[in-house]
Amino acid sequence: MDIHELIQSRRSVRRFKPEAVPMEVLKKMVEAGRLAPSGANFQPIRYLVVTDDEMRAKIFATLKWAAHIRPDGDPPPGNEPMAYIIMLIDERVGSKAIYNYDVGLAAENVLIAGLAEGVASCLLLSFGRKEVVEIFDLPEHLQPNLVIALGYPDEEPVYVNRSDTYRYWRDENGVITVPKIPLDEVMFINRVKE
Ligand SMILES: Cc1cc2nc3c(=O)[nH]c(=O)nc-3n(C[C@H](O)[C@H](O)[C@H](O)COP(=O)(O)O)c2cc1C
Repeated sequence: MDIHELIQSRRSVRRFKPEAVPMEVLKKMVEAGRLAPSGANFQPIRYLVVTDDEMRAKIFATLKWAAHIRPDGDPPPGNEPMAYIIMLIDERVGSKAIYNYDVGLAAENVLIAGLAEGVASCLLLSFGRKEVVEIFDLPEHLQPNLVIALGYPDEEPVYVNRSDTYRYWRDENGVITVPKIPLDEVMFINRVKE
């Protein structure tokens, strides 16, 4: 698959096969993250890779899935993520104003690198920060910013071009369908017109 097909095929997946993701693949994903652009090249992101069963269960308990279809987007028992990459910020470097840009750019690199290896993912901002700090006994300067839930996909969400709603839904076959605003509505050429 070329890069455009990969980008088009990437959807947030919330049901995973009970199949471990090899550490080699997880390393490739982190490698893609660490090479992403970084404001002033401060590189404040650290990547906590979690595959351990007990730790995974603890993280899972703090996650909130698919707000628009809750609780229908929750991974059912047996379909939980098989790994997590938790993006931490080393707050001793850089500044709060750039952290989220760095995280967003690096996160997409991580997702696309995973997808190239058949690994699906879902980003989660809705997680228990306090709990994650406690689970991993994180030092004061390392703050969890974003959780990436990972695994081999057991569902195939799709997108449709639509701008009348931002809410994704499950269609009559149970497929998560994500509306994306069409290109001609998001792109302005030389001048902005509404
Ligand atoms: C910053 C950010 C935070 C997100 N947080 C969550 C979350 O807490 N739980 C969840 O299930 N999905 C979360 N998502 C996934 C979005 O719901 C998803 O990207 C969006 O519905 C578009 O679907 P797509 O990723 O398949 O294109 C998050 C995505 C982003 C970019």
